[in-house]
Amino acid sequence: MATAQDIRPRMDDLAAQAQYFSTSPNASFHSPSSHGSALTRTIPLPNAKHLKPFATEDIKVLLLENVNQTGREILKQQGYQVEFLKSSLPEDQLIEKIRDVHVIGIRSKTKLSARILKEAKNLIVIGCFCIGTNQVDLQYAADHGIAVFNSPFSNSRSVAELVIGEIICLARQLGDRSNEMHNGTWNKVSNGCWEIRGKTLGIIGYGHIGAQLSVLAESMGMSVIFFDVINLMALGTARQVETMEELLGQSDFVTCHVPELAETKGMIGTKQFEQMKKGSYLINASRGTVVDIPALIDAMRSGKVAGAALDVYPNEPAGNGDYFNNDLNTWGADLRSLKNLILTPHIGGSTEEAQSAIGVEVAQALTRYVNEGTTLGAVNLPEVALRSLTMEEPNHARVVFIHKNIPGVLRKVNEIIGDHNVDKQMTDSRGDVAYLMADISNVDTTTIKELYTSLESLPSRIMTRILY
Ligand SMILES: NC(=O)c1ccc[n+]([C@@H]2O[C@H](COP(=O)([O-])OP(=O)(O)OC[C@H]3O[C@@H](n4cnc5c(N)ncnc54)[C@H](O)[C@@H]3O)[C@@H](O)[C@H]2O)c1
Repeated sequence: MATAQDIRPRMDDLAAQAQYFSTSPNASFHSPSSHGSALTRTIPLPNAKHLKPFATEDIKVLLLENVNQTGREILKQQGYQVEFLKSSLPEDQLIEKIRDVHVIGIRSKTKLSARILKEAKNLIVIGCFCIGTNQVDLQYAADHGIAVFNSPFSNSRSVAELVIGEIICLARQLGDRSNEMHNGTWNKVSNGCWEIRGKTLGIIGYGHIGAQLSVLAESMGMSVIFFDVINLMALGTARQVETMEELLGQSDFVTCHVPELAETKGMIGTKQFEQMKKGSYLINASRGTVVDIPALIDAMRSGKVAGAALDVYPNEPAGNGDYFNNDLNTWGADLRSLKNLILTPHIGGSTEEAQSAIGVEVAQALTRYVNEGTTLGAVNLPEVALRSLTMEEPNHARVVFIHKNIPGVLRKVNEIIGDHNVDKQMTDSRGDVAYLMADISNVDTTTIKELYTSLESLPSRIMTRILY
């Protein structure tokens, strides 16, 4: 790719604000996934303006909790100063370190509360290299213009593959046979053991995981039906059914892939087990609250359900150890005593591939945010993107203005940028916070500084960044 002109401001005060300035981005854009979520990908444009970002050596990144190497490499390649730690940090040490950084990457153990974020005066973005984001005070972050990204779908394939494995294990009672052999017992049986070919798999929730599973199951000769609250394009010869009752009545294997919502809590209980075929199987690798476990225990004891696999539980321990007992869930011992029941410790998405994909997805989102201001995939800010600047646009600047969502702000912003040639502009709001992006042509560094100072003086301002 050709080297483009690099505009480097010389003013000291501009350099002092280096974290708010960057050059134009590498070409990239997001495409929404088939489910309208923020799964992202990067497609380089041939004529993309590929500047060496201004003062990236001043962008400081702190990566905690052994973030995957794929993510570390992407951030280092940008020229950012990356500090990498294998563990999380005690609160006092975290406060010391977070004061200095513009980007922080964490996994699930680091709690970024308002108390800690209050100290993070330079922070512009948080990358959660994991699925969940409840370890971060998302509202505080949004109110202070700090974007938060995560990777909700990088492990979909891993979960789908686990479920395929479990379907076969349940159909052949592999868990029990293996346990017996470990205890020295040879028990060769074929009674109640089946091929999965020709059997019907009922998928509840046909999202990222459900849809992957559908394809895998069909390729192994299963018929697939699914139930979802929205109408979705069926893959292969899968078929959407109208009601969950219909699905339960037709399926040999029922598997749940719905999010944790008020409506999905206990959605598989006594009534649903009654509606299932006798001798069918249940798999839950979604969320622990989706299945009523005491009802499952009853259904398995009565023989209605011939086997089950659970990867998730209403209460899960915070760390590894001998915690899966009645103190954690009152029915623990009853559950563990059942035959043909596969219990796994929430490992559905835990593979090397998923960790590596999470590293790439989150690091790319962070890079795009730092370099381009793109918020697609952010969990706490409105999702805003403009197409990448190209080589034909050397003297453009991108204004990012994060502000309070109050009446009259846009008029004031447009008074400031309106004297210039605004090529494109986009704004969106989410709750109390709004995010504006505008590309302005024919600007020099003096103009950029003036724009920055004027926008910063607006009372509605949360954070101003100018990228060029
Ligand atoms: N076991 C693990 O390690 C692991 C890993 C990743 C995800 N998960 C869990 O798997 C679940 C599914 O993940 P995903 O990425 O496929 O989610 P997704 O958002 O892509 O798909 C969820 C689907 O469920 C549907 N849905 C919502 N409410 C429903 C209802 N009441 N009835 C029927 N369908 C409903 C949605 O319309 C959507 O199509 C989530 O709970 C997620 O937390 C578990």
